[in-house]
Amino acid sequence: MRVVLGITGGIAAYKAAEVARSLMERGVAVQAVMTAGAQEFVRPLTFAALTGRKVITDMFGSGGADETLASSVEHIRVAQENDLLLVAPATADVLAKFAHGLADDFLSTLYLAFTGPVAIAPAMNTNMWRHPATQANLEILRKRGHVIVDPGDGLLACGTSGPGRLAEPEAIVAVVDQMLHPRRDLEGETILITAGPTQEPLDPVRYVSNRSSGKMGFSLAEAAAARGAQVVLVSGPVHLEDPVGVSVERVRTAREMYDAVMAHLPESTIIVKSAAVADYYRADLPKQKVKKTATLLSLELQPTPDILAEAGRRKGDRLLVGFAAETENLLEEARRKMTTKNCDMVVANLVSQAGIGFETDENEVTLVLRSGEAIPLKRASKRHIADQIFDQIAKLRLAAHASR
Ligand SMILES: Cc1cc2nc3c(=O)[nH]c(=O)nc-3n(C[C@H](O)[C@H](O)[C@H](O)COP(=O)(O)O)c2cc1C
Repeated sequence: MRVVLGITGGIAAYKAAEVARSLMERGVAVQAVMTAGAQEFVRPLTFAALTGRKVITDMFGSGGADETLASSVEHIRVAQENDLLLVAPATADVLAKFAHGLADDFLSTLYLAFTGPVAIAPAMNTNMWRHPATQANLEILRKRGHVIVDPGDGLLACGTSGPGRLAEPEAIVAVVDQMLHPRRDLEGETILITAGPTQEPLDPVRYVSNRSSGKMGFSLAEAAAARGAQVVLVSGPVHLEDPVGVSVERVRTAREMYDAVMAHLPESTIIVKSAAVADYYRADLPKQKVKKTATLLSLELQPTPDILAEAGRRKGDRLLVGFAAETENLLEEARRKMTTKNCDMVVANLVSQAGIGFETDENEVTLVLRSGEAIPLKRASKRHIADQIFDQIAKLRLAAHASR
């Protein structure tokens, strides 16, 4: 397998050396391409030594009277010879160039000539990352089918804190590895996934809800579809685009989510319940908006239907995975849920820690199995965590088939 590793001008350029080394160790031939900006941070010699190949550093590089046409259209040759284009780190600048088709250096020209899969690992200052221009460019690239390895949250070299730190080299290489050797270990499975919060109306204009962003469930759906499963995603109200190749059903209330899950349960072989479903709802909904008064307002709320418990009752030989989002006593609560709801695995998620859980791009969870075993997964992007959850689910499926 051959990969072009594009390195652009950010502080994280030095981390691309680790990416190159790790790809080489996996037997992947790496052709490094550095922008002029990248060369301000790291010398091409580093990548030449790691990859054993001359690094491409400019568009009109070698020159010379004896040069053949074939060697002077190197961007076409490199585009044809490689299986995947990875850019790590990707600057805000290169995202903009790729999104809009500019071709003013070797990497951006190669991008236009390249027809294979593209993975992009952005890294930049938090404000640059959050800028609407950058987010709009990312949206274009995602829609084009490119895989964006989302940056992590944390303290950045520029002194600010927030999203923008290059994903760990290990996670970038795992994504590339999967793109080069797509796993189809979930082929034949029909997976029902729930995501996001629910909204329970209090009157025609107000509702109660929670902080779930739906990112974990959407990442799970994306991971399962990439591994060959048929995926139905039932989601509460979230601001996320439908994952490619996934059938998405949008609902609002816990009752609607219950109905959607029960409707899709019969055809499902695996159920993953990552939604943060409201526990209570207002049954006596007023027809008009409740007026503000100076007196205390009491609301009577009824328990919502317990979707996980009902799925547990009806599960048969399906595999049922629940999520426990807790602020304390995480593992006890996960184990309690396992038995009371008849789950095969519970993903325990401490949501009180900054940077992980609700509303973030990263997570750190513990997988609790029926045997009592607890498998901690290190903090990583939700997409990477999703794959690790499915690694475990695939093992449980294999064990279940073997014991039949
Ligand atoms: C010290 C320093 C650090 C920088 N770090 C980043 C960064 O992490 N991400 C980014 O998008 N731009 C960063 N920039 C700005 C880019 O280097 C600049 O936009 C440049 O034009 C990118 O060129 P390229 O995309 O062709 O490599 C940094 C600039 C300097 C001077």
